[in-house]
Amino acid sequence: MLSQDVLENYILEHSDEEGALLSALNRDANVNLLRPRMLSGHLQGRILKMFCRMIQPKKILEIGTYTGYATLCMAEGIQEDGEIISIEINDEMEDFIEKYRQRSPHKNKIKICYGDAIRIIPTLQGPFDLVFIDADKRLYSEYFDLVFPKVRQGGIILADNTLWDGKVIEDPIPTDKQTLGIMNFNDKIKRDNRIEKVILPLRDGLTLIWKK
Ligand SMILES: C[S@@+](CC[C@H](N)C(=O)[O-])C[C@H]1O[C@@H](n2cnc3c(N)ncnc32)[C@H](O)[C@@H]1O
Repeated sequence: MLSQDVLENYILEHSDEEGALLSALNRDANVNLLRPRMLSGHLQGRILKMFCRMIQPKKILEIGTYTGYATLCMAEGIQEDGEIISIEINDEMEDFIEKYRQRSPHKNKIKICYGDAIRIIPTLQGPFDLVFIDADKRLYSEYFDLVFPKVRQGGIILADNTLWDGKVIEDPIPTDKQTLGIMNFNDKIKRDNRIEKVILPLRDGLTLIWKK
């Protein structure tokens, strides 16, 4: 095993377990779904829950639900009166998402909206205390611009996969729109002085943004 994998195992062994429900979801996704790597997973899931403990958000928006793994993790971390709206464009995921949401003690905190986030975000009522951007990499800047006015002052935006397998430091290939989308987003975020930002080198890169 690579030393990186050994270290990751050590980290997981010395952190909270993901629990039976999320572990079953994870297994199910790995056996039955095409791109199981898209879900946040054990370590990032525990971190998202911990962020929720720290920030104590009342209203969360997640852009890109996939299986609902991260949604369920954040739901664990918020208070009973907190709510999470999560947007997923692929309504074929509904059966999978519901199979696990229904089994969660936090199911009532979660509302899934099926459709394109670009169309749905403008219809949502803020203010949001926490936003997790994790959908189409080509559209990160658009999601950010749409959601920014709906985030409260002092609110947090998290953007996942902002190191994009290290491709952000390679010469961009003009046809690779996902890498270009992430690179443009990272440059735009860096220039924006309405926010404080830092890229956490967690997994595939998680940018933490604080609205001044
Ligand atoms: C990386 S996965 C989300 C993983 C999930 N947030 C987690 O951490 O477990 C990205 C999801 O975004 C969805 N997606 C892509 N473009 C979208 C859009 N414009 N609006 C809503 N969802 C979108 C995809 O169908 C996919 O399920």
